[in-house]
Amino acid sequence: MSSAETDDDILADMQQLWREAEQLWDASDSTTPFQGYVSADYPVVFEALRGLKGQVLSILEWGSGLGVVTIMASRLGFDAYGIEVEPELVDYSTNFAARFGPHAQFAEGSFIPEEFDYQPRRGDEIQQTRTDVDSAYLALDMDLRDFDLVYAYPWPEEYNLFRNIVKTCGNPQGLFMSFDVREGLKLERMSDEAKHRRRNANPRTRNIRKR
Ligand SMILES: C[S@@+](CC[C@H](N)C(=O)[O-])C[C@H]1O[C@@H](n2cnc3c(N)ncnc32)[C@H](O)[C@@H]1O
Repeated sequence: MSSAETDDDILADMQQLWREAEQLWDASDSTTPFQGYVSADYPVVFEALRGLKGQVLSILEWGSGLGVVTIMASRLGFDAYGIEVEPELVDYSTNFAARFGPHAQFAEGSFIPEEFDYQPRRGDEIQQTRTDVDSAYLALDMDLRDFDLVYAYPWPEEYNLFRNIVKTCGNPQGLFMSFDVREGLKLERMSDEAKHRRRNANPRTRNIRKR
């Protein structure tokens, strides 16, 4: 009989993790490290990650909070990394990972790469994201371009900022998966937009009238 772990085995473990993360958040949400923290809809993210198996290898969670999404991705077989600015949340993530997903990796610092060119006129609005800390990519020994998929739960006003970071500094063939409490999960491939822009910039010859 095979002892291979099924997705249902993983789901059962993850349900326990979701409960424990929820309890921890309930007990601590008025404390400073949790001030910028809100959790996504974990079951919805779990199903989406499950559907990405075979399509991507590496996943980076921006603002990984208690580490739940990174741990889920790791358990589902992805190379999974999380970057979180609050040291206490990184400690909680590491402790959860030891019990629920030992291959998940976390780094403390900012997910904003040093090379990102912040341009408010392009729609780069910052509300809650911390900008007073160093980027964490060096600690991971990775660049943003190394990841096949970036997952984030931005504040609604910051969606453009997050997307512009992925678009300008991320893997040109990469995916951006974002959660929004009203709209749910959105999955975008960055190269689709580049194609769309190229098509619009180069109208077909037959559309150009010669005089
Ligand atoms: C909305 S919570 C998302 C939690 C988790 N990713 C999820 O989907 O359930 C945003 C997290 O981003 C963290 N954060 C804010 N600015 C950051 C930055 N520049 N770099 C890394 N993490 C940041 C906050 O501390 C918080 O834990």
